[in-house]
Amino acid sequence: MSSILKEKHIVLGISGGIAAYKAVELLRRLSDGEAQVAVILTRNAQRFITPLTFQALTPYGVYTDLFDSYRPGAMDHIQLAGWADLIVLAPATANLIAKAAHGLADDLISTFLLACPSPKLFCPAMNVRMYENSIVQANINRLKGFGYQVLEPSAGPLACGQTGPGRLPDPEIIIEEVLGLLSPQDLKGEKVLITAGCTWEAIDPVRFVTNPSTGKMGFSLARVAKRRGAQVTLISGPTHLESVPGISTIRVTSALEMEKEVLRAFPASTIVIKAAAVSDYRPQEVTPHKIKKNGQATLHLNLIQNPDILRRLGQKKKNQFLVGFAAETDDLIQNALQKLKEKNLDLIVANPIGKPDAGFGWDTNQVLFLFPDGKTKSLPVMLKDEVAGLIFDSIINQKKKKPKK
Ligand code: CTP
Repeated sequence: MSSILKEKHIVLGISGGIAAYKAVELLRRLSDGEAQVAVILTRNAQRFITPLTFQALTPYGVYTDLFDSYRPGAMDHIQLAGWADLIVLAPATANLIAKAAHGLADDLISTFLLACPSPKLFCPAMNVRMYENSIVQANINRLKGFGYQVLEPSAGPLACGQTGPGRLPDPEIIIEEVLGLLSPQDLKGEKVLITAGCTWEAIDPVRFVTNPSTGKMGFSLARVAKRRGAQVTLISGPTHLESVPGISTIRVTSALEMEKEVLRAFPASTIVIKAAAVSDYRPQEVTPHKIKKNGQATLHLNLIQNPDILRRLGQKKKNQFLVGFAAETDDLIQNALQKLKEKNLDLIVANPIGKPDAGFGWDTNQVLFLFPDGKTKSLPVMLKDEVAGLIFDSIINQKKKKPKK
């Protein structure tokens, strides 16, 4: 979980739809990230789920009535409005959306919404026909016009038996939006291209040459860039990681496919980070049929070199800020410096392999930044999301210093 949530004051507003029960999990996840969450339930939400459930999960207050403030220690809606850094309405029913869109103030939540100037995230969840109704859509557009964030509901089977958009998105999707709303928008206007994961180089239809990269570092970079306002293209080799809504994700298999997609996206990019562990070699021939043992004790594969994608980008670069990774078992600094120079990079992130908590597959990493002017920055073991944040901090700092061509 990201440290962005730590000690942030969030008001979770729950209105009366069947998805109200999912707000419990959302509260848990926000609290796991050390956010301080107060809850407001509408009258109808309490018919689906009781305030007691939330009271057991958050010490920051569960409010149900405009006049709750007469309870000892409770905040009134004006105090709560001053306390909140962010408001999440999940689920947001058609009724709540309509009231918010037209400035009604006839219960606690609608009154609080008018009193609170902090960013608001509406997560609509309802029957698909209601959601697609042009009145609801007009109200949603009105909310967007007021600068509120509205999350698209997920599509799928709905509690009412119909299928389509209307489901409350999974907590991780809602939390990703929350993290974006709580992040500085210092990458706004940047077009960030990131590569992630390994590549598969086919030997025959059932076998391939690869490496253990899972794509976690590249996906972290993509998520963090998106949270900070960038337009992000992620080109990923094979991975089990799911695409993040709002990030244009292109899935590739081999180094040659990755090269093609990267070269296509490169000219329009302003920041390029090559976190992928590209296979340096591929089998010279791909056997069309499964290779049989046929009693042979040894098998020789002829490998030919793949293009070095990053080196090509270094040759082509104009105003792009180019970042590479160097995964090394030995002579970390020396090898990374050589790659920084030879590939014409603006920053290289050197990554020792074989240490606990760092490298392939871990959620954490331990890296060293090396810059062309000889400066270095060594970081302790930290979450890959945090490493990603510091990489972007460095890029922003360096870009400020770099004269434009
Ligand atoms: N890279 C690339 N294309 C390749 C190989 C590497 O774009 N065919 C990029 C990686 O994405 C990484 C950087 O180059 O950003 C360094 O990759 P790494 O595997 O550490 O080193 P190599 O340059 O391949 O050199 P070596 O394998 O000799 O260490």
